[in-house]
Amino acid sequence: MSDVLNIALPKGRLGERVYGLFERAGFGCPGALDKGRKLIFENEALGLRCFWVKPSDVPIYVERGAADIGAAGRDILLEYGPDVYELLDLRTGVCRMAVAALEDFRDNPERTLRVATEFPNIAQGYYAGRGRDIDIIPLRGSIELAPILGLSDVIVDIVETGTTLRENRLHVLDTVADLSARLIANKAGLKFKGGRIHEVMRGLEAEIK
Ligand code: PRP
Repeated sequence: MSDVLNIALPKGRLGERVYGLFERAGFGCPGALDKGRKLIFENEALGLRCFWVKPSDVPIYVERGAADIGAAGRDILLEYGPDVYELLDLRTGVCRMAVAALEDFRDNPERTLRVATEFPNIAQGYYAGRGRDIDIIPLRGSIELAPILGLSDVIVDIVETGTTLRENRLHVLDTVADLSARLIANKAGLKFKGGRIHEVMRGLEAEIK
């Protein structure tokens, strides 16, 4: 079916919460939460096709039109700046991007600040706005280790409950951005499948608390 609506969902906890919204709104794809290895799930009656991808890949699928719509964390959208429409705040996965450091950290403005992060563009933008020279230490996880081991002065990372920071004697110095999951759409797709996309959007809106 050529007018199938393709939906890119981020694998993992956030994606499962977002998928719950789709399901409650009546736009589920049978089997999508099964624990097998299958990646694509169809709802033939409604002409929907859901697929799970790495969270940071969702904007690529949507920007290039392999997916008509998708759900992505605002962190991913700020970091990669994809050319897509942001349609809706799904108000799940609510957290923030923050600068954090060890409790006894004191900034020395004379020295280049070493910033460990999975989000180099967000960190660069934040410090550029403050005229602060930084050295990015790009990491792929367990960012909180960097200041503890002396690899960085601060981190720019996602804080949800604050437990990870607390348990590692780190604390928030500043909030960089408020985050949550967003519904995004391919720009051409919104023209050609606008009716269907808006139907899904309205359904999701009604389920958002
Ligand atoms: C994220 C983030 C923090 C943690 C914050 O990591 O990078 O480490 O969650 O959550 P908290 O404030 O509730 O403790 P995630 O679990 O997604 O794994 P990652 O380290 O692989 O990114």
